[in-house]
Amino acid sequence: MLKGVILAGGNGTRLSPLTLVTNKHLLPVYKKPMIYWPLETLIQCGIKNILIISGRGHAGHFVNLLGSGKKFGVNLSYEVQENAGGIAHALDIADDFSDNGKIAVILGDNIFMDSKEIQRGVREFARQKRGAKIFLKSVSDANRFGVAEISRGRVVKVEEKPLKPKSDLAVTGMYLYDNEVFEIIKKIKPSKRGELEITDVNNYYIKRNLMSYKILESEWTDAGTFDSLLRANLIAAGILEK
Ligand code: DAU
Repeated sequence: MLKGVILAGGNGTRLSPLTLVTNKHLLPVYKKPMIYWPLETLIQCGIKNILIISGRGHAGHFVNLLGSGKKFGVNLSYEVQENAGGIAHALDIADDFSDNGKIAVILGDNIFMDSKEIQRGVREFARQKRGAKIFLKSVSDANRFGVAEISRGRVVKVEEKPLKPKSDLAVTGMYLYDNEVFEIIKKIKPSKRGELEITDVNNYYIKRNLMSYKILESEWTDAGTFDSLLRANLIAAGILEK
């Protein structure tokens, strides 16, 4: 069975001063701390072994909140990302944990309101011999995200926060990878903003025709900015629809 990784590092600077003394992923999204949402998404996919990677300052808070995972019926492990070197940099820490197997990776600030399509994607990926799978969602503000360009039923490129997006399909923060991802991460170089970008990892798979995708109909949002955090709360509370 697939192992799961939740990436909850980074500095959360876009939410300052909310994140001055606590971690973004511990802030509320309606009735639950933010990290419950990605955790429950993985659990609903039947994933039993989950690694939580957080920054140094608040690692203990995640253990206090979630413990061994017993109350969720899963096994939780914890690792620390010493500096916010990017999403792919954080993921590299999961190399040993992955035990040479496939992994499901989810960003700690991504809220999927319904996991059924993700569950289907995970089942499809189990049949995919190698490579990766991403989940896309049509949005009105694509330039805030990684954006997928699709041609003849294939993703041909992902662009990170493009000024002129080639589509309205955002790459959500749920990724399925074979174990080659860890070799790929070791090959990529930091971007202009000094981070190891998950988009570069995804383009590596795309170039070799090893990337599949699924377009989500159900509601998804990130929660890493004031507006998206508010939106996540309103959708979760049923006050805002789409
Ligand atoms: O939400 C989906 C988007 O997430 C994708 O469309 C983008 O392609 C992807 O780059 C990412 O964009 P953001 O700019 O929103 O990523 P952000 O820096 O906010 O990081 C998102 C999560 O990743 C964060 O909640 C925790 C984790 N993270 C991030 C960094 C930079 C880490 O664990 N370590 C890090 O060093």
